[in-house]
Amino acid sequence: MVGEKSGSIAKQLIRSELQMEKDKTPHKILQILKDGHFHSGEQLGHTLNMTRSAIWKGIKQLSKYGLDIQSISGRGYRIDGGLNLLNSVEISKHLPKQQENQLAGLAVLDQVSSTNDYLSKLPITENLSQPFYAALCEQQTAGRGRRGRDWLSPYGHNIYLSLRWDCQKDPFELSGLSLVIGIAIIRALKAYGIPDGAQLKWPNDILYKGKKLAGVLIEMTAEAHNKTAIIIGVGINTFLSDLQLKDINQPCTTLYDILLNQINRNRLSALLINEMIAILNVFDKDGLTPFLPEWESYAPSIGSLVTVLHKNNSIVGTMKGITEQGELILEDAQQNTHKFVSAEVSLNINKEAVN
Ligand code: BTN
Repeated sequence: MVGEKSGSIAKQLIRSELQMEKDKTPHKILQILKDGHFHSGEQLGHTLNMTRSAIWKGIKQLSKYGLDIQSISGRGYRIDGGLNLLNSVEISKHLPKQQENQLAGLAVLDQVSSTNDYLSKLPITENLSQPFYAALCEQQTAGRGRRGRDWLSPYGHNIYLSLRWDCQKDPFELSGLSLVIGIAIIRALKAYGIPDGAQLKWPNDILYKGKKLAGVLIEMTAEAHNKTAIIIGVGINTFLSDLQLKDINQPCTTLYDILLNQINRNRLSALLINEMIAILNVFDKDGLTPFLPEWESYAPSIGSLVTVLHKNNSIVGTMKGITEQGELILEDAQQNTHKFVSAEVSLNINKEAVN
């Protein structure tokens, strides 16, 4: 299938696709358990022509990937909710040609420390018509969130996607970038069929009915010849167990909880790459300005009482909106106006004002 695709992207797909080793027992077991149904050890052994003890060992190895494999005596093993594993051919199938042609590469990885780290090690692209490079993985062993936090990244669930954009922009021209990426994520969720209810919390948290659904971590490095490598990391919760949800120190939700159905991660990943590239093409020329009304339409915090945490201080005021540079505008009780850039602060939406 990959061979049927033409051009450099097809070569990249072959070169950079890494999978759990295909001929090994854990991978073979996973191909059966990913349907989410119970399979007894005996049945697995019979299908794979292995002893029950080899199956048991394989299951133990799978648990090391952070997979929550239920084992119930008399019924067997299962992965609650099933798995939709990543597949570069499937992703390409859902990606419009116009966007695919702008990708210098699409890496679909098994385990990686962080998809942002993976892309940061690539050399700067020389080809101006292909300024983007996308990387996705099944599991991050050191997934990172904003403000030095960890990002929970269990195997085979959720979206861990980074898009690298090599461009000739100065960092000051990029202050609105994190906001437009929030819009791209909401557009992709809508295109997937997620019912209305997604919201943006400045600068770029994606909430669904008040609970965190997705986050964005943007990192940049100045490269040679006035080039900047921008790495946009997006994490979307598609499925987290009750235990994992309890482990996270803020109210979170998942697409599985919203749709009560397994998520097609390949289609959603393609929609995300598509919307991000489309938005970055416009942002490159026109900046944040054309996106302001859309951003504000997703931000219930505008007009509400919020608390901005800034260098150990907190300032309470009404969120008035955002500037064309993406700064948050806050008016305090004395009607003084304050502006904040996203790197410096975190925002709490005051409960009494939101309810
Ligand atoms: C946040 O704190 O809200 C940002 C979370 C960003 C997580 C994504 S997952 C893909 C990419 N790789 C990482 O290590 N982090 C980002």
